Amino acid sequence: MALPYPHDPLLAGAFEPIRMECDYADLPIEGALPAELEGALYRIGPNPQFAPRGPYSPLQGDGMIHAFHIARGRVAYRNRWVRTRQWELERAAGRALFATADPRDHDPQVAGVASQGAANTHIIGHAGRLLALEEGHPPIEIDPLTLETLGPYDFAGRLPANMTAHPKVDPVTGEMVFFANFPTRDFDGALALHVADAAGTLTRSIKVAGPYPALVHDFAITRDHVVFVVCPLTLSLARLRAGAPPIAWEPELGVHVGVMPRSGTCADVRWFAAPPCMVWHVLNAHGEDGRIHVDLCQQDAPAFSGPDGRPAAEASLRQVLTRWTVDPGADAPVSVRRLSEVVCEYPRIDERRVGLPYRYGYVAALGGPGTGDLLHRAIGRYDHATSEMALWRAPEHCAVSEPVFAAKPGASEEGVGYLLATVFDARRNASHLAVLDATNIEAGPIARAHLDHRVPAGFHGSFVVRQDAV
Ligand SMILES: [Fe+2]
Repeated sequence: MALPYPHDPLLAGAFEPIRMECDYADLPIEGALPAELEGALYRIGPNPQFAPRGPYSPLQGDGMIHAFHIARGRVAYRNRWVRTRQWELERAAGRALFATADPRDHDPQVAGVASQGAANTHIIGHAGRLLALEEGHPPIEIDPLTLETLGPYDFAGRLPANMTAHPKVDPVTGEMVFFANFPTRDFDGALALHVADAAGTLTRSIKVAGPYPALVHDFAITRDHVVFVVCPLTLSLARLRAGAPPIAWEPELGVHVGVMPRSGTCADVRWFAAPPCMVWHVLNAHGEDGRIHVDLCQQDAPAFSGPDGRPAAEASLRQVLTRWTVDPGADAPVSVRRLSEVVCEYPRIDERRVGLPYRYGYVAALGGPGTGDLLHRAIGRYDHATSEMALWRAPEHCAVSEPVFAAKPGASEEGVGYLLATVFDARRNASHLAVLDATNIEAGPIARAHLDHRVPAGFHGSFVVRQDAV
């Protein structure tokens, strides 16, 4: 017998999981959906199948995929859980067996059962495959149309361990460059770097020694370099064994920015020091005259205690777009410049500009950590040419997801296309797909495709162009 979800702000309102999977052939559309827009928006996030065991951590909540297949002016919708090993065992048991926050709370009957991960953080398309990602484990391959779980994907046996949830695809070569944090489970700060070619074959894997064992969620590439951003949010199994927090904020360790030629090895990485702060997500990076610009959402201090368990002096959770410029020849090689004061998260770009000079960044804005509001209330477009953040504020009672850019077919100019986001309307307790003109986001959605249920607040998503979408 399934139990109700417990009272927890991360299991209520916009976050409340849904318990069903469904298919809609033709969603009702308000406005004018561009006839030429064709492809699928996939979004993913935590949606625990059952009431959690012990405290709830969304980071390990079962991943659910929401797919909006768009073609010929119509939108079809389908949602499915990712059928991981844990999901299947729990479905059979009719209750949660795996704890989301502390593995010591697992049911004894699953002792020794290896997790396949929650597959809940990002979903990407590359080389014809759709992959659900969670950074502690290998990808899970998903059928792009049916959303059937095809199983863990290890690049024909070449990926030895986990994979970041934030790979970068080079728009010129089609290569997918990605890293793995703690790939050996030695928790010694080492990272792995992998490259899959445009056909999806894993062609290169190297080990990179990091400055200290830290939670590294995202990274960047330029045309010529890989950039690692290591912030002092550390992980220690020794602390865990001693009863201290395994994850701790240690600002005295500073930030280390690692720059490596794309074809380099560990010996070629140059590390540069930067002031302590936290970075969860990178917008983009590019080279200019021997320098590298790395644009990211910077948080001054996360809400984690120190290694002794004492609360951090002062968490400062608001995130703002910031440019770090790495100039290897300068006295202070890393310079920091705020791009905008608008609080924001989930930065995305027109991905035809990954690693290249670019003009626009797209974000979920106004809300989120440090604002007193768990949800984001606006979609923003930052313009490097004007240094302005244009905003579309969602209607009252509504919250927005990360915006994903979809290029207008036939238009090669950066930023000409659409932003796709899900919008949760608390008054209807339901969500819709919002389509905005990326060149005029202030005007608000040009089309809305309505569901009669929630798409629970999730993490990331991708737009994948397909000819046989519906
Ligand atoms: Fe992320």
